[in-house]
Amino acid sequence: MNSSIDHMRETRPLDSRRRSYLRLAEPTDGALIYRLRSDPRLSRFLNAPPTTIAEQVAWLTQYKSQEAAGKQYYFIIVSDDQDRGTVRMYDFRIIDGQRSFCWGSWIIAPPPVVGLASYSAMAIYELGFEHLGFEHAHFDVRRENESVVNFHLRSGAKIVDTGEQDYFFHFSRDAYDAFRMAQKQTIERHSAVRHAA
Ligand SMILES: CC(C)(COP(=O)(O)OP(=O)(O)OC[C@H]1O[C@@H](n2cnc3c(N)ncnc32)[C@H](O)[C@@H]1OP(=O)(O)O)[C@@H](O)C(=O)NCCC(=O)NCCS
Repeated sequence: MNSSIDHMRETRPLDSRRRSYLRLAEPTDGALIYRLRSDPRLSRFLNAPPTTIAEQVAWLTQYKSQEAAGKQYYFIIVSDDQDRGTVRMYDFRIIDGQRSFCWGSWIIAPPPVVGLASYSAMAIYELGFEHLGFEHAHFDVRRENESVVNFHLRSGAKIVDTGEQDYFFHFSRDAYDAFRMAQKQTIERHSAVRHAA
């Protein structure tokens, strides 16, 4: 077993005793991910989904070798014992001399759970900045996806470039520290331990 994955499973964001946590996606999540990515309410600003569940399962099977090599991590967002969405870390590279990760494939199915959007973003940052040795994050968002663009601006991300369709964001360690302080109550609510070990 890959030691960085063993290490990751022991961190707070992946701790399944907590009210909300991330778990690594498996090929058996193909139907769930296919359903989320083909939901017209959720897919408007996403890249086109695989056309069948079988294709999604095949994609996840390929992904597992990327995960084992430490190149990409795809998570299911779980809250109150239910699989609620997805989020993914990928495109690990150096930006301005700092180790940076990209994150995206961020989906949370309705009905909304108060704080889960913020907590899932926080969990990704906590994992990246506190546990996986990253110093910076980057991501792109469709310009028309206004609520998500505004979410990132409120959380301290900066738009560093504008494409025809997308804004390109950078998120610094200082922004992470400020976001973590601002989200203290949400973190406490969602990381509360519910299950005995
Ligand atoms: C992206 C996604 C996961 C975000 O989840 P969401 O629940 O819609 O998040 P919202 O933008 O409504 O809100 C996020 C938080 O900001 C808060 N918020 C919204 N507007 C606000 C405002 N003007 N001022 C302050 N806070 C605000 C919300 O209350 C919410 O707080 P909470 O997390 O504490 O509950 C979800 O919208 C989704 O699945 N979208 C479809 C897929 C997609 O487009 N993904 C993004 C690809 S880059």
